[in-house]
Amino acid sequence: MTSNTITPKEYQAFREFLENASGIVLGDNKHYLVTSRLTRIMAKFSIASLADLMTRLKADRALRQLIMDAMTTNETSWFRDSYPYDVLKEKLLPELSVKKNKPFKIWSAACSTGQEPYSISMIISEYLMGRPGSLSSGDIQIIGTDISSDVLQQAKAGVYDNIALGRGLSLERQKRFFKEKGSQWEIINDIRKRIVFREMNLKASYTALGKFDIIYCRNVLIYFSPELKKDIMFRMSQALKPKGYLILGGSETISGYSDEFDLVRWRSGVVYQLKTRTTVNG
Ligand SMILES: C[S@@+](CC[C@H](N)C(=O)[O-])C[C@H]1O[C@@H](n2cnc3c(N)ncnc32)[C@H](O)[C@@H]1O
Repeated sequence: MTSNTITPKEYQAFREFLENASGIVLGDNKHYLVTSRLTRIMAKFSIASLADLMTRLKADRALRQLIMDAMTTNETSWFRDSYPYDVLKEKLLPELSVKKNKPFKIWSAACSTGQEPYSISMIISEYLMGRPGSLSSGDIQIIGTDISSDVLQQAKAGVYDNIALGRGLSLERQKRFFKEKGSQWEIINDIRKRIVFREMNLKASYTALGKFDIIYCRNVLIYFSPELKKDIMFRMSQALKPKGYLILGGSETISGYSDEFDLVRWRSGVVYQLKTRTTVNG
């Protein structure tokens, strides 16, 4: 398959399939993306065209998962953008430590290969080191979810090579939070033990996850339609405890999508806090 051999009808059918399955909206002219991501898989399964692929996908769940893994963009890094981690350490954790109703729960929605939830867990450990007794290690649970089984497998393994570690991790944190495993590095149990990883599509229901104090939903809404962004933000507001926080990616905003949150400015950035709703009776 090459970009030129994809017919408009095939392209349209594939776009619809992808958006229905994952929410990811493919632009009008992303034929090159489809070919570059799918050619290898299609060759392996002797699938000649997108039309053939669509037929096979109806009955083959494993193939469906492979296509989903291939079509997602899993770009991530340690302490990405630094702000979401500074605000956690200096504002949100001090606020949580005076609250009751433990355990506190943090959701890394669309966690890719694990850098986001592991960075959150490292921040928690650093916070606790500086303030013994303020919270105990088991007081905070993190759940990392993603639609891609491939990236989740890497996240669960918690083993990274030097190139992956070089993206945002200081040498000091590498020494403190990883142990050598051959030519690679494995995250230590103290950091790993707070996190549970689970495969989950953000289009599906969140009710089984329980309620969260903080949700990180970063660098994933950019792939979705305005309607799906609205729907996800609304359902995330329902998945937060009172006064809970939503943290979005640097280029993402609630503006125009949700009025469930107050914008809270802290230093050079913003976080979103669930509004307190007053119920009017009668
Ligand atoms: C660019 S990465 C962002 C990772 C991390 N949050 C960060 O900011 O570095 C986007 C992730 O969203 C996941 N994703 C895409 N569509 C999804 C969906 N419908 N449900 C859950 N995860 C999805 C992809 O598999 C990918 O790992």
